[in-house]
Formats: sequence, C-alpha cells, structure tokens
Amino acid sequence: MKFFAGSSSPKLASSIAHELRTMQGGAELIQFTDGEISVKIIDHVRRRDVYVLQTFNEPVNDKIMELLIMIDAFRRSSPRSITAIIPYLAYSRKEKKDTRHDPISGKLIANLLQQAGITGLITTDLHADAIEGFFDVPVINLSASTLFSDHLRPKLDISNTVVVAPDMGGAKRARKFARELEVPVVILEKVRPHNSPDSEIVTMIGDVEGKHAIIIDDIVSTGGTLVNAAKLIKERGAKQVDVCITHALLCGSAVDKIQNSVIQTMYITDSVPVPSAKMLDKFEILSIDKMIACEINELQAE
Ligand code: R5P
Repeated sequence: MKFFAGSSSPKLASSIAHELRTMQGGAELIQFTDGEISVKIIDHVRRRDVYVLQTFNEPVNDKIMELLIMIDAFRRSSPRSITAIIPYLAYSRKEKKDTRHDPISGKLIANLLQQAGITGLITTDLHADAIEGFFDVPVINLSASTLFSDHLRPKLDISNTVVVAPDMGGAKRARKFARELEVPVVILEKVRPHNSPDSEIVTMIGDVEGKHAIIIDDIVSTGGTLVNAAKLIKERGAKQVDVCITHALLCGSAVDKIQNSVIQTMYITDSVPVPSAKMLDKFEILSIDKMIACEINELQAE
C-alpha cells in the first residue's frame, strides 16, 4: 500500500505515516497565479492500495479540488484501490433540502469524489449517518467518542457527571457517549429563527443542577451553539462545563467567544488542524492518528 497526503494537515499525515511505519508517498502541489491547482504524483502506485489523507479545512473549496485532482492522477496510474481519508467532510451540514429550491451539497461532494475515482472512504463523525448512503463505495465513519471517553473517564466523578447534547440532532451521539461513560444524558432543543445565523435554546430535557456537564458535538464553527448551551446549563446550576468536539473549525470570532465563555476545558481532535494563533489554554487536542492507522492496517490485513 501507499499512503499519501494533500496539503491540509501535514502534522496528522506524518503521525499517521509514523503509526503505519511507512514513508509518505511523494506528491507535489502547484498553484498557478490564476488559482488553478495542479498535482504531480512522484511515487508509482500501479497495483497498489492507495490511501490519501486530506481534510476539508479552510480554504475548503481548494482543499476539495486538490484532493479530486490527486484522485484523478492516481486513477490514471492503475492502482488496485483508492481510499480517501477525509477526517472532516465539509458540506455535510447540507445533507437535505430545507426549502424547495435548496441544493444537497453533501450529495454533490459524494458524487464528485466517486466520479474522480475513490473506491472507499474513511471519515470521522459524519454530521449525519444518512450521508454514508450518498456513497456507493464502502464508507468507514469512525467516531471520536471513544477517544474522548477513554481520556476523560479517569478524571471524572462518574456519579456526578452528565453528558449534554446541544441540539436534538446530536442526541444519538450524546447517548452513545453517555453510555460509554455510564452517565445520564441531557438534551437541549435548539432553534434557528428563519434566515438568522444565531440559534436559541428553547427546551432542556434532563437535569444539570450541581453536576459536571460535558457537552458533546460534531462541529464547532461560529461557536454560537456551544457557548449558548454552556451558558444555559451553567445558569441551570451545573458546577462545571467541559466540551468534546470532533471538528474544531473555529471560524470568525469563535475563539473569543469560547475564551470568554463559562467553558472550562474544551477537548477537540486534530481532524482539522487548529492554527497556533487560535490555540487557547483551555483547548486540549486528542489525535485521531492511531484510530485512522488502525483502520488502514485492518483493511490491509483483510
Ligand atoms: C449542527 O447541527 C452541528 O452539529 C453543530 O452544532 C453546529 O454546526 C455548530 O455550529 P456553530 O458553532 O456555528 O453554532
């Protein structure tokens, strides 16, 4: 097999290569002055199983295009298989039509990847399980939940901890996490007024009074969902609020919002690299490197 990486997360790429005890395949990325991207694959991939890592962080559209071009280059060199490893699959939040004339951008991304030539996908914490069905190739959707629960369990007083879903869409994820920690789950209901980027919480199911509350979510983008949820549960009497988030996009003023919030510690993964300028003392990064390497090893052993 051959392991390659695009330009999105060099640190994660080298830790995965280290875990796999392999050298990264050579690929040169060229960006022309008009913005066009070209990729030159240096290593031979004929009759090899190719794994290519590229997460969809900012600038998202360039990262997508770069991966599509890499896949096209591999496909034209007769590999045995091409598995894309996309820890954060952007556009997944647009997996259904909310109004009659909406696009389903998540499906478009799936079509593009398949058309380019992937034969499999490894990803982490898809925004919605249904997105797996957008692909006609095998999808492995890894969850960071066990990574978080294994890390947190020794630090917790289980008898006084609750897991919180910041919206109804995250209830299934929160229940899984709560089951792993063997603690109760609390669910918030969030609504986004029509045409407004801001959300508000309208209902809370469960009790947080005097508890150590851990919010779990797939994405933090503007930070609005998280900070509102943390504020509400603190007002309802939680004694400590921590957060576990897989994909820390941290757009716009998210970092300031989180810094000035009641959140004590925020556990995130490296599915998306966090630039050092955005790094806060309250962030703790857990790496998904072993999880991904382990999956590749299992696929290769089959
Ligand atoms: C929404 O359904 C997602 O699970 C996240 O809660 C949401 O994308 C977070 O976005 P923001 O940080 O902008 O509130």
